[in-house]
Formats: sequence, C-alpha cells, structure tokens
Amino acid sequence: MPSSKEILPILVAGAGSGIGKSVLENLNAIGQNAIGISRTGIERESKSPFEFGKNYHCNLSRISEVPEFVSSLQKQFPILSGVYFTFGNGLFKPVEQITLEEWNAHFVLNLNSLFVLTKEILPLLKPGAFLCYLSSTAGYQGFPESTAYCASRHAIAGFAKALREELKPKGIRVITVYPGAVYTDIWKGREGFDQDDMIPVDDFGKWLATLSTLPDAVYPDEIRLLPRKGIL
Ligand SMILES: NC(=O)c1ccc[n+]([C@@H]2O[C@H](COP(=O)([O-])OP(=O)(O)OC[C@H]3O[C@@H](n4cnc5c(N)ncnc54)[C@H](OP(=O)(O)O)[C@@H]3O)[C@@H](O)[C@H]2O)c1
Repeated sequence: MPSSKEILPILVAGAGSGIGKSVLENLNAIGQNAIGISRTGIERESKSPFEFGKNYHCNLSRISEVPEFVSSLQKQFPILSGVYFTFGNGLFKPVEQITLEEWNAHFVLNLNSLFVLTKEILPLLKPGAFLCYLSSTAGYQGFPESTAYCASRHAIAGFAKALREELKPKGIRVITVYPGAVYTDIWKGREGFDQDDMIPVDDFGKWLATLSTLPDAVYPDEIRLLPRKGIL
C-alpha cells in the first residue's frame, strides 16, 4: 500500500484539447501527478514509463484500445487517485439530418467507451478515489438540433447517478459536473453564440482540477456550473 504522503496518479481521459487539456495542465500546476490520454496523444514505447504531465495516445472510440491501455497503465500504477472523463464530441443537427452511422458513432464515443473505461479502471481505485464525469446543461435540459447530444449527456448523468450508489459502500466518489458553455472547439462554427458569453476554458480547467484536492470524506455528487449569463 502507498504511504499516506504518496501522491497517487490521476488519469485525464480526453486530454488532447479543450477542457481535458486544461485540466491536465492545471493538475500539474497544483502539484498533482496526472497523465492524459486521447487520439492525438504521443505513442509510447511499450517499455518506456508513463511520465506525468504528458498526454498519451488512446483512441477511445476503438473499444479494444481501452483494456490494452488500462493494463499497461496498471503495470506502472496499480492504484489511481481518480479519473476525469473529459472526452466526447458534439453532434448538432436537426434530427432528420442525423444518419444512423453518426448517431451510433456518437454513442460509441460518448457512452460506450465511458462505460468500458469505467469498468476497466475500477480495480485501480481504492476508498477515497474519485470518478469525475462531464455531463452538460444538455444533460438536464433539451435544446434544438441537439437530440443526440442531449440523449448522450442525459445518459452519462443517469449512468453516474447509478454508479454513485453502487460505489458508495466502497468509498469511491462519483462526481457529475454539468457545465454550461465553456469556450472550446466544440463551439466553433455554431452560429448564434458569442465566445465572450462563455467561461474561458482555462478558468474552467483550473476549477475542475481543484476537485482532486477535496478531502476524502467530502462527497460532491452533482455540480451545475454556468457562465455569468446562465444557460446560453
Ligand atoms: N465546452 C463546453 O461548453 C462543454 C459544456 C458541457 C459539456 N462539455 C463536454 O466536455 C467534453 C469535452 O469537450 P470540450 O469542450 O473540451 O471539447 P473538445 O475540445 O473537442 O475536447 C474533446 C476531447 O475529447 C478527446 N477525444 C475526442 N475523441 C476521442 C477519442 N476517440 N478517443 C479519445 N479521446 C477523444 C479530444 O482529444 P483528441 O482530439 O486528441 O482525441 C479532446 O481532448 C465533451 O464531452 C463535451 O460534451 C463541454
């Protein structure tokens, strides 16, 4: 078992850009030991160790890559302090324009891989660990041209609600954050929204990183976080 002073690693799943990239940077800045994964992460030689602060390759839409990654991580780090699930994408179109392929691909990334990663990572978590999921305002409210996105964000919220109850006896905390608009690539090209009305991504990442510093006995369950104007 690690000593109480040892800083256990944190995994940021989806650290290539946007919120996840910022969380990884801000975890580093506050002295946490974090590593990231995403499609654009660096390829690691199988024998070279993971280094804190770096983002490694793992395409979470390729479900078979998930157990492979977790087993390589577990060889170096048998216990994690927590995981941020910051990967995902948007699918914003009128419902009749969404193809079944687009719908399925959206759910494979946003939900199936989240389920598989959760399942694979659980053996690395001990009492006091945390799992932090990002839902959205679209996880509790509907928006036009957002059926797939609203459905996947509601599903993440439901998944996390049930998992929270399941993991309480083990002392593992499940935190769902419902962010309002945070300015990242997900907003680029969407008309009718102004960047100045949104939370700057680094402000959001700074705040999200602090969740890793909560005392073990503090159990935030659901957090709604909005920009000044509220829901855009
Ligand atoms: N921005 C907002 O206003 C907002 C509000 C509420 C909720 N959210 C949610 O927050 C999450 C992050 O969004 P964001 O705004 O930060 O958007 P983003 O900049 O597009 O970030 C998406 C993240 O997911 C990773 N990713 C995408 N496909 C992946 C794959 N197949 N395998 C592994 N990683 C993958 C990306 O890295 P790579 O490109 O390197 O793979 C990147 O790190 C999304 O789930 C989004 O729904 C965002």
